[in-house]
Amino acid sequence: MDDQYGVETNPSDRATVDPPEAFVEQANVTEADAAAFSEAWPDCWERAAEMIDWERPYDRVFDREGENGRWFPGGRVNAAINCVDRHLDERKTQAAIKWIGKRGERRTYTYLDLYREVNEFAAGLRSLGIGEGDVVTLYMPAIPELPIAMLACARIGAPHNVVFAGFSAAALAERMERADSAFLVTCDGYYRRGNAIHQKNKADNACLSVSHEVTDTVVVERLDDESVRLGDGDHAYDDLIAGHRGAEVDPVSRDANDPLFLIYTSGTTGEPTEVRHTTGGYLAHAAWTSHAVLDLEPADTYWCSADIGWITGHTYLVYGPLSLGTTTLLYEGTPDHPEKDRVWELIERNAVDVFYTAPTAIRAFMKWGTEHPESHDLSSLRLLGSVGEPLNPSAWSWYYDHVGNGECPVVDTWWQTETGSILLSTLPGVDAMKPGSAGPPLPGIEVTVVGPDGEPTTAEEGGRLAVTRPWPGMPLDLETDDGDEWRYVTEDVARIDDDGYVTVLGRLDDTVTVGNHRLGTMELESAIADVEGVAEAAIVDVCNGSADNAIYAFVSTDDRHESEQRLRDRITGSVERAIGPFAVPERFVFTPELPKTRSGKLMRRLLKDIADDGEFGDTSALRNPEIVGEIESALERE
Ligand code: WTA
Repeated sequence: MDDQYGVETNPSDRATVDPPEAFVEQANVTEADAAAFSEAWPDCWERAAEMIDWERPYDRVFDREGENGRWFPGGRVNAAINCVDRHLDERKTQAAIKWIGKRGERRTYTYLDLYREVNEFAAGLRSLGIGEGDVVTLYMPAIPELPIAMLACARIGAPHNVVFAGFSAAALAERMERADSAFLVTCDGYYRRGNAIHQKNKADNACLSVSHEVTDTVVVERLDDESVRLGDGDHAYDDLIAGHRGAEVDPVSRDANDPLFLIYTSGTTGEPTEVRHTTGGYLAHAAWTSHAVLDLEPADTYWCSADIGWITGHTYLVYGPLSLGTTTLLYEGTPDHPEKDRVWELIERNAVDVFYTAPTAIRAFMKWGTEHPESHDLSSLRLLGSVGEPLNPSAWSWYYDHVGNGECPVVDTWWQTETGSILLSTLPGVDAMKPGSAGPPLPGIEVTVVGPDGEPTTAEEGGRLAVTRPWPGMPLDLETDDGDEWRYVTEDVARIDDDGYVTVLGRLDDTVTVGNHRLGTMELESAIADVEGVAEAAIVDVCNGSADNAIYAFVSTDDRHESEQRLRDRITGSVERAIGPFAVPERFVFTPELPKTRSGKLMRRLLKDIADDGEFGDTSALRNPEIVGEIESALERE
């Protein structure tokens, strides 16, 4: 049954599932560890801090000083030492990064290789005049040079600003402008469905529209194509590395609360929101959750299928696994190419121990059929993870049965760009799993739900999910509640059951999920409304029962005489330019007007209901109820 948010509720036949016994016996975190952790906050978080090496010990675990307080004040730390140098003694020759490129290329970097190249690139960045505190923008697809550049920046204390490679020149420019970033690392291009995407052209266009000077651009050369010319201020990555062969760069000791990186996310305003993560607290939280929730060990081969351009890729493809000395897989391709069994083939071939992906991918795998996982030996898998959206119970069961063979715990991890690392999840060797529910707050984390007015509601009633205590992975400029109590109130609506398990029902703000990327409806709507002939647009994410989400654009037009096809093409172009091709809505529904209340408020919820299953409630609040019939027939025509 679906509830009012369109979320599949928990079927009673699989209300809870105990962690598989064989897993429990070897889990990184046992019941006793979890119990010990639950003791006095904030000192319990010392366990996370112990996961990383500090150059200078912190004075206190947490200090309430400043607006939100600070973690591990006085501590000094370098993230590159933690992700690279400290592993050299024990696992120099072990693979750190295994890369599988889009055209079948394979490259493996041992921890020693990684150490060398990170140092050489750090020396290269230094030679361009980049120093501590300078923001370096990284605009690359899933190639090894991206994590190498992140770690090189971390080594010299230059915060990185990774921008998803699929973003347009305009979106890149906006993020460089806001970050006041004068340095860029990009590539000449890459291949997408056999076509060359000229990334350098997009980067050049972006640099032209940034109001400050972009002094240096480093270009990783990937295309066979000689047409990309390097201009003034451009440096080939390979030349820069070659020019610093064998260089070693002393890591810059950073204050625990110096920013390690910036990342932009979509918020309610329609403009990208900057989030700055710290060096000490973030890294400790990333390492701890990788150990406790993903159960990672150095001997593991681990695959997180997220793009590094999003927070999941930062925390759980790069910083978490590398800080623990694990082998992390970096896959550039798509899950259905050359065949729909690609993911399972890679898991088999690389003997992947832990796999972390998103519900949207799991639902696609389900649609493609069980024969694909069944045709491969997936017995290397020990744990499965999910992040990004609620994992509905039927997808949970499919993942557990057909991928994990009933032997791997599934961790449904809830967190956000703003939280930096996982906050809600079952501990895989300790807690029973409840399909459809993310799980309880991790030890050391405390959450509640609050009503729209900020007042506590009952847990069953549900409300906005709020985190009521600071956590180490919190960013520098988190917006917390003004009240007396420390509280970070999210835009997620959730319910908490008697066991403290949290079920996320949906989001209150105007953001939608495209693939597993969070985008603002305002961002998309304004890219559409910018097109001549468009009066207004409403973006809705439609879930069609339990199937995957799709983005629909309801567009009201000025001029009904123009062909819809032409308008659609122009809208597509506008979205591609403003955000990127990945953000183009799946369906367009043209209508003379959008449904509005008497006070002129757009009724997105009604559009969502119509698109979901054609069923909707009372329309008497509408100023233009007659439009509903027109929209329904426009939808059918599509
Ligand atoms: C949603 C991604 C339900 C939620 C790490 C959150 C989830 C937003 C889950 C953050 C989950 C993430 N169950 N919903 N396990 N994980 N979400 O910033 O709405 O891209 O607020 O970070 O994704 O998206 P973001």
